[in-house]
Formats: sequence, C-alpha cells, structure tokens
Amino acid sequence: LDPVDLQAGVDVVPGTSTKLRSRRWFNDSHDPGMTALYVERYLNYGLTREELQSNKPIIGIAQTGSDLSPCNRHHTVLAQRLRDGIIAAGGVPLEFPVHPIQETGKRPTAALDRNLAYLGLVEVLHGYPIDGVILTTGCDKTTPAMLMGAATVNIPAIVFSGGPMLDGYYKKELAGSGTIVWTARKLFAAQEINYDEYVDMVAASSTSVGHCSTMGTALSMNSLAEAVGMSLPGCASIPGPYRERGQMAYMTGMRIVEMVSENLTPSKIMTKQAFRNAVAAASALGASSNCPIHMIAIARHMGVDHTLEDWQDVGPEIPLLVDCQPAGKYLGERFHRGGGVPAVMLELLQAGKLDGSVMTVTGKSLAQNLEKVRKEDTDREVIRAYDSPMKERAGYVVMTGNFMNSGVLKMSVIDEEFRERYLSHPGRENVLEGTAVVFEGTEDYHTRIEDPALNITADSVLVIRHSGPVGYPGSAEVVNMQPPAYLIKKGIKTLPTLGDGRQSGTSGSPSILNVSPESVVGGGLALLKTGDPLRIDLNTRRVDVLIPDAELEERRKAWKKPTLKNKTPWEEIYRSLVGQLENGGCLEMATKYQRVIETRGES
Ligand code: FES
Ligand code: MG
Repeated sequence: LDPVDLQAGVDVVPGTSTKLRSRRWFNDSHDPGMTALYVERYLNYGLTREELQSNKPIIGIAQTGSDLSPCNRHHTVLAQRLRDGIIAAGGVPLEFPVHPIQETGKRPTAALDRNLAYLGLVEVLHGYPIDGVILTTGCDKTTPAMLMGAATVNIPAIVFSGGPMLDGYYKKELAGSGTIVWTARKLFAAQEINYDEYVDMVAASSTSVGHCSTMGTALSMNSLAEAVGMSLPGCASIPGPYRERGQMAYMTGMRIVEMVSENLTPSKIMTKQAFRNAVAAASALGASSNCPIHMIAIARHMGVDHTLEDWQDVGPEIPLLVDCQPAGKYLGERFHRGGGVPAVMLELLQAGKLDGSVMTVTGKSLAQNLEKVRKEDTDREVIRAYDSPMKERAGYVVMTGNFMNSGVLKMSVIDEEFRERYLSHPGRENVLEGTAVVFEGTEDYHTRIEDPALNITADSVLVIRHSGPVGYPGSAEVVNMQPPAYLIKKGIKTLPTLGDGRQSGTSGSPSILNVSPESVVGGGLALLKTGDPLRIDLNTRRVDVLIPDAELEERRKAWKKPTLKNKTPWEEIYRSLVGQLENGGCLEMATKYQRVIETRGES
C-alpha cells in the first residue's frame, strides 16, 4: 500500500466526490486476498463487515490518557462520548494509544517525549486505515505532539482537549497548579511552613480530573490549539469534570466525520495567518513561555514559515487581557465561566489584531465562529476588554546578544516589584546591569545555591546552562531559579535569570530563557564565567556580556565540547537529531516529511 497510490482511491462515499483512504484496506477489489486479511482481524472484537466495508469513514481516536498520564486520564472515559458522536454521524471509531506523556512524572523531562509521541502518531496515522483523527490533548506536551503529528500526515484532524481541573483552594485562597508550588517552596525555604503543610498546599491545587488549572503550558497550548482553529470553539477551557466536556466530546466526534467528507485537512487551517493569530492570543492570555517553542514546531511540521520573528513582530504590542495565574490571579474554571478563548478572540478580532478570514475545523472562518459570542456575557473580572487591559504590551520579547542568537522574555510576568527594583532607574529605564553567577545545570544549582562563597546579592544575575535540548537532554524547566534562602528572608524573592533551558509555564519568573544556541553545542552561553558583568537592555532587546571581544574569542578557543552520557537509546537518538529551542526543538530530519499521506486531491 504505497501512500502515493492512495491518490487513486478505490471507492467513493455515496453522495460525495471524496475517496476514503481506508477503502484501500477494506474495499480493494483488485486485491481481495489482502482485503480479506485486513477486514478479518477487525471483526474479532465485534465490528461487522457492514461497518468496515460500507464506506463509513474510519475515525482514529488518538488516546493520550492512561494511568501514567493523570492529566489526560479522563480521556479514557470521554472517549465513549467521542465514539457516540462519530457513530451518530456515520463513522467508525478506532481508538489507539499514544506514548504516554506526563509533565511532572517523567524523568529526566517530559520534553524528551514530545518528539517521541509525535513520531509514534505519524507512524500510526500513516500506516493504518484511518481517514480522520481526533487528537485528545491536555498535559503540556501532549497537545503539541498531537498537532505536530497531524501536521506531518495532514489527514483531517480535530483537537479534543481534556480541560483544566476545577479551581483549587488552600485556606480560602485560590491554589493554582504549579504556581502554588513556587509559593510553597519559598515559604518552606524561609521556614514559614513545615513539610506537611508544604505537601498539603501543593495537593490543594489537584482537585479533580483535568490538567493544570493555571494558564501554564497545558491550558495555554489547548487555548492556542483552539485559537489556531484546530478545536471546536469553546473547547479548550471547559473543566475536565463539567458536563459540557462530555457534550463537547460528542460534538467533536460528529464534526470529524463531516471534516472527512469535506476533506478539511490541517494544511487548510494551520496557515501562516492562523499561527500569527495564535501569537496574539498567546500574548493576551499570558500564555506559557513554552508556547513559542511548540507553535514553531507545529508550524515547521506543517511546512509553514512561522518563526520567533513572528512572535517578536506580533506579540509585544498585545496587552494582557486574561487575569489568570501566573500572570494574574484566577484559574481555569473561572476563565471558562468568564468566556474562555472565544471571548478573548473576540476582543482581539474587534481590535483588529486577528485575521478573521482563516478557516477552522468548523468549516467556517474564525470571524464566523465568533459571531455567536456575545460580548456582554464576558466576565470582565477575568477577561478584560482590549482597551482596559491587565497590562499594556504584554507579549513575548525576543532578545539577542553577543553570546546568544535568541532568548525569549515573557513580559506579562514582570511584576511591579521587579520593575521597580531593576528596570526603573532614572536615565536608564528598562536596562538591568548585574553580575553573572553561573551554574552548570540543575544539579550544580541545587548543590551550590546556598553557598555563601558565591556571594549572591540583589545585583546578581543567575545563569544556568547545560539545560537545553541536547544538554539536558530534552531541555529542562529550570531557568526560573529561586534566589538563595538568605535573600528570600530579606524579601528578595526574584532575581533576574537567564539560561538555555525552559521554565514551567506556571512560573511567574521574568527569565530570559530558551537561549539558543545552547551551551553544549557551542553556544556563547558556554563562555560565561561567574563574575562577568551582564547588561540586559529591553529597549534594544539585547543581552550582552561586557567583556572585550578578544577575551570572548580566547574563551571560545579554550572551550571543549562536554561529553554527554545517554541513559536510554531514545536519549541518544534524540540528541543526535534534535534542533535548538528557537527552531522548535524538532527532530530536524523529520521536518522534511510533509503531507506524508496525500489523499484525494489535497493541493
Ligand atoms: Fe500535566 Fe500540568 S502537569 S497538565
Ligand atoms: Mg512544564
């Protein structure tokens, strides 16, 4: 079954001109022997020949839920409603497992597995009789992994999110996933709480089925999946346990069957303009600093020219509209009740910040989808109007400098205290000068951060390297380094930080992160030394080490590539193929495989 031959198709869905690729497995009259073989095994659990051989579209359900993936686990139950919708619309559901990804449980990091799950999905979609697919998403990396796979294969695909957990509370205060961990850590470091309280605080955020409740990477990426047009409007924010979640599953199941007959493929939805819309949405949402990486990766697999330049071009002028942690105070459930992604998109559209003409999974344009949204229903406590935002100019700023090509700074999390201390000096507004304290990765940071000999002060800039995609491997969420306990006790809760790793989307730390190229591949970050003077200038978007070029050159000559030890076969494969974070951290060779199943006249 050469995929190229699928162009020809075999049978035609009655009443339409589309050809289903699954017919090559189940209805190919030219090779009845093989057809019998393909059909017989799917009968063994009760499917009928009528279902397999009567031109019903076969709909894959890419199941990311499992006991190992608690953030997505309820998809195993919701899949029933997806199936109901598929069957009601005349399709046949075939559910299959995806390599599990769980953000907080996977060592050394779940980031390593995004590309593995991507590969797995491509192989399944390419090699089995699937006409269209529902991508179940939730936990951070599951969303980009599924969209990357759908982009490469380019068969009709729709995202079905699992939704956030219900809002959590600790002692009457909102307790958001991740954000509560950063708070608890600081209280624990300052000995204001004991360990039991620490665990109780953290656990208070984990209220129900669903993914992280904050605008961390999970809710951000599901919101961007909706913003880019790949899920039904309103899908992203419905909390996991709400009845609407099951109803959304049913509608998603029905819709994918129609999408197959319309041959509405990802390439018709995820266009350059759609990605730029997503950047505007990300800025207004205060979305995770992991979003640029993932969206660039999805775009590259889609064959769309979408780079950090688009983030710099679109993002910075967009205000923060959504008052969710970590940039604000509310959580996913309130965000949903407040209007969710459609309410945010309507604000952006009416402010002229979106291209409303882009196609979406509904078969209608973004602007048409938003016609149903009523502005007066938006809860202004949590979703602000465009002209009275939470913060002006809140998008992502792409920095460059004399030792790095790029690094990303999420403006929405720069708080007043930080701005006051570092960025408000008369005569040099938005310029921060400090002394580098350099850590060789996360272990080194944990071993030495409390060492008084490092002499860390409010004027220090904490630098971490060896934490990028090749170095870690997978790139670690470590750049939001906490100051030493003695500074926290003195009230200095945040220091400027910089590094070639990432940081959790739930972190409110104003770090310069995703620095590319990373140190272990010879990026200039490798040349920094503790004591080096650094200047961070937000006006010129530069981060420079203030030492002579000749000195930098000397250091470069003396630099030796570190030996990296792989612990698993995948780590070795990953390290040999992965690119830098500024390019999405993709398996570089994989980006040349595009539209690997070209069906039915896709242009
Ligand atoms: Fe899975 Fe946050 S850890 S969604
Ligand atoms: Mg994370």
